[in-house]
Amino acid sequence: MDNSQAIQALEAFNRKIKRVLITEDELQEAIKRAGKEISDSYDGRPILLVSILKGAFVFMSDLCRAVTVPCEIGFMCAKSYYSGTTSSGVVKITMDLDQDISNYHVVIVEDIIDTGRTLNDVVNMLKLRNPLSLKVITLLDKPSRRLVDFKADLSLFTIPDYFVIGYGLDCAEEYRNLPYIAEYGESANE
Ligand code: IMP
Ligand code: MG
Repeated sequence: MDNSQAIQALEAFNRKIKRVLITEDELQEAIKRAGKEISDSYDGRPILLVSILKGAFVFMSDLCRAVTVPCEIGFMCAKSYYSGTTSSGVVKITMDLDQDISNYHVVIVEDIIDTGRTLNDVVNMLKLRNPLSLKVITLLDKPSRRLVDFKADLSLFTIPDYFVIGYGLDCAEEYRNLPYIAEYGESANE
């Protein structure tokens, strides 16, 4: 790629960031409140924050620093496979937790709940491992897209049916490093 192609590619990349929906300050303020809520409600009991990669890695890193009681961190990679119109699929764990969760109050930290299918499957699977308790916190929620009846215990922002990028969320693996949440658009004039 020569210099002018690189400039064009960068312009095209920036054009697809249609508009900022949630600013850095709004994110940080909501996360501080959520961290306090978690800290108050578990109050010294053993918490394990579990984030589902890759989308939730940025939210996890800010949320865990807003929690003021001892907690452990875990990551897992999960993919759900569906056949036809079934609302529940087969979860394939491509990277599993290394903790035995039966000794922990587990809080799943998710980036966004869309159809709800992936998280529904992950929650059902983790329940079989008998955690002391299991809750779900999500940064974003798109309830209008739900295909299964799934509700997070704590949801920081409810958004309309936009495709969003930034703060961990991607479009074809790009834009995860934006410090804010933006709406993605193929053309600036849409
Ligand atoms: P679902 O709730 O099973 O449909 O899947 C949710 C997953 O789809 C999330 O964890 C994201 O990885 C991805 N996803 C859903 N909506 C968006 C979006 O607007 N932007 C980026 N990723 C999304
Ligand atoms: Mg995700």
